[in-house]
Amino acid sequence: MGRAEAAAMIPGLALLWAAVLGGAAPSTPRLRLSFQELRARHGLRTFRLERTCCYEALLLDEERGRLFVGAENLVASLSLDNISKRAKKLAWPAPVEWREECNWAGKDIGTECMNFVKLLHAYNRTHLLACGTGAFHPTCAFVEVGHRLEEPVLRLDPQRLEDGKGKSPYDPRHRAASVLVGEELYSGVAADLMGRDFTIFRSLGQRPSLRTEPHDSRWLNEPKFIKVFWIPESENPDDDKIYFFFRESAVEATPALGRLSVSRVGQICRNDVGGQRSLVNKWTTFLKARLVCSLPGTEGDTNFDQLQDVFLLSSRDRWTPLLYAVFSTSSSIFQGSAVCVYSMNDVRRAFLGPFAHKEGPMHQWVSYQGRVPYPRPGMCPSKTFGTFSSTKDFPDDVIQFARNHPLMYNSVLPMGGRPLFLQVGAGYTFTQIAVDRVAAADGHYDVLFIGTDAGTVLKVISVPKGSGPNAEGLLLEELHVFEDSATVTSMQISSKRHQLYVASRSGVAQIPLHRCAAHGRACAECCLARDPYCAWDGAACTRFQPSVKRRFRRQDVRNGDPSMLCSGDSSHPALLERKVFGVEGGSAFLECEPRSLQARVEWTFQRAGESTHTQAPDTLTKSERSPALAQPIEVPDPPVTFR
Ligand SMILES: *[C@@H]1O[C@H](CO)[C@@H](O)[C@H](O)[C@H]1NC(C)=O
Ligand SMILES: *[C@@H]1O[C@H](CO)[C@@H](O)[C@H](O)[C@H]1NC(C)=O
Repeated sequence: MGRAEAAAMIPGLALLWAAVLGGAAPSTPRLRLSFQELRARHGLRTFRLERTCCYEALLLDEERGRLFVGAENLVASLSLDNISKRAKKLAWPAPVEWREECNWAGKDIGTECMNFVKLLHAYNRTHLLACGTGAFHPTCAFVEVGHRLEEPVLRLDPQRLEDGKGKSPYDPRHRAASVLVGEELYSGVAADLMGRDFTIFRSLGQRPSLRTEPHDSRWLNEPKFIKVFWIPESENPDDDKIYFFFRESAVEATPALGRLSVSRVGQICRNDVGGQRSLVNKWTTFLKARLVCSLPGTEGDTNFDQLQDVFLLSSRDRWTPLLYAVFSTSSSIFQGSAVCVYSMNDVRRAFLGPFAHKEGPMHQWVSYQGRVPYPRPGMCPSKTFGTFSSTKDFPDDVIQFARNHPLMYNSVLPMGGRPLFLQVGAGYTFTQIAVDRVAAADGHYDVLFIGTDAGTVLKVISVPKGSGPNAEGLLLEELHVFEDSATVTSMQISSKRHQLYVASRSGVAQIPLHRCAAHGRACAECCLARDPYCAWDGAACTRFQPSVKRRFRRQDVRNGDPSMLCSGDSSHPALLERKVFGVEGGSAFLECEPRSLQARVEWTFQRAGESTHTQAPDTLTKSERSPALAQPIEVPDPPVTFR
């Protein structure tokens, strides 16, 4: 039986096929800018140091105006306004003994036995928490950064190091996913040298450490942790939950399928303190559900099964943020990436639904139909939902049920039931995402910045589709922010400063969120760009400020239709045909590349004598049109030979 056939037998795990999307061409950006163009004309700034690799941890500190960066043997503090300016550097190598031990254990002294700084968190008003691999000897330190208004400092007390086990990975190739809540760190990480004991771990702070059940594949099955968020559920802090995003091998797959990758969202309660008689110092509120990002098709679904990154976009209240996630595929036949958007209410609904249950080794996973004990596993001990004040008071049957049923039967589906944006056969995959919510003339738009494994950042807007809540992504820009096409490993966005910070193996890049002038010098070009950050101000395409009331600001993000908006623009005739006259044997240069990649250039050739004007020379008429445009736009012209 083939892999696809076997998969189709399992409800909810139907596989994908390339045939479904095989014919789809990748989207083309409206604007594609090279590293050189970005650096010369669009404010791209970079930070890199000689012989330093792997800029992986970024921490944005708006108050201090600093960007903290964790890399190989180093923590740096950069200016948020210009990362190329006056960096403060703190060398933090691993001690020689640890490097030797690492080397004896068979690791490479030059590439693995270093201190790769993997995580940076704001700890208190004066210190950061930093953790690194420490040459396969994970270590954390409190890095002094000083008070807000002081001259920037960056100091580390080598006498006060913390054990980094369960906080930072051992292996530089692994990622760290963690969140600091108060003084406590919640992390998803491999907690052993061999990289086999994967755990969701709570450490630091005053309470005893807590972890997942070790070596139980139902809890975690070779996971790769992606992101961790703290999301409150009500005004009562006792209901606060921590959500873990990861991917792993599906336990629910039948052996016939082999290894099947699935993406997950997991939850735990912040006030979990473990069980009293069993699950002592282990989570009693851990649950996980499958996160689906797939494109429905007539021949089965196309599954984007490998979660790569998640961005949490805050909404008006603190408990219902939107989750923007990027996925790729694990298939060797079919390569594509997608963005799916999830609502927190759908995530919570999956955890309130049926539990997945497997009677024994020879049985299938089914929806559990029996009695679920009270209080329902996954609920936090709180006055909101019950009478238990601690997880140590939970009855034994609750603890037993929780231990055996960490998986939910229902999956979490994306909003609109399909990806917001996808790219197939583009030659790169998505690795990171950051989102900005922007006020435009006709409403709010979410602007997505997607990092890829080709050193580029894609800028995509989410545009409402039809009348419902559905939206679709529109690719505006492709920005080559790294000269060497290195994989984007981390991104931070500052809406306040209008800047995006992008990290890779080779360095850090900073780029403004908009480049309005690059869209062109005509009203129609600005309007066609559909960039919510930009509008035509009567003379140029410039930054749109919703607070500034100016009647002649022209912007149409929703439809990108300049025919109404730009028709009365006298300063710049927006829609024009360009005629080039030539004589036999002479030459004229014809431009074929329109400034907007979505526009089309058409040259028509008219022989002398064909027109109503007798004696007219040969004429070339150029029209550049976009799908939304009825008339051509003016563009400068270049030479062609007339025959
Ligand atoms: C950023 O700082 C660098 C180094 O000081 C300087 O050369 C560059 O002009 C600055 N760029 C901007 C846009 O301010
Ligand atoms: C922040 O934490 C560090 C490390 O525990 C401690 O030394 C420092 O005094 C704390 N600062 C404040 C302002 O609480």
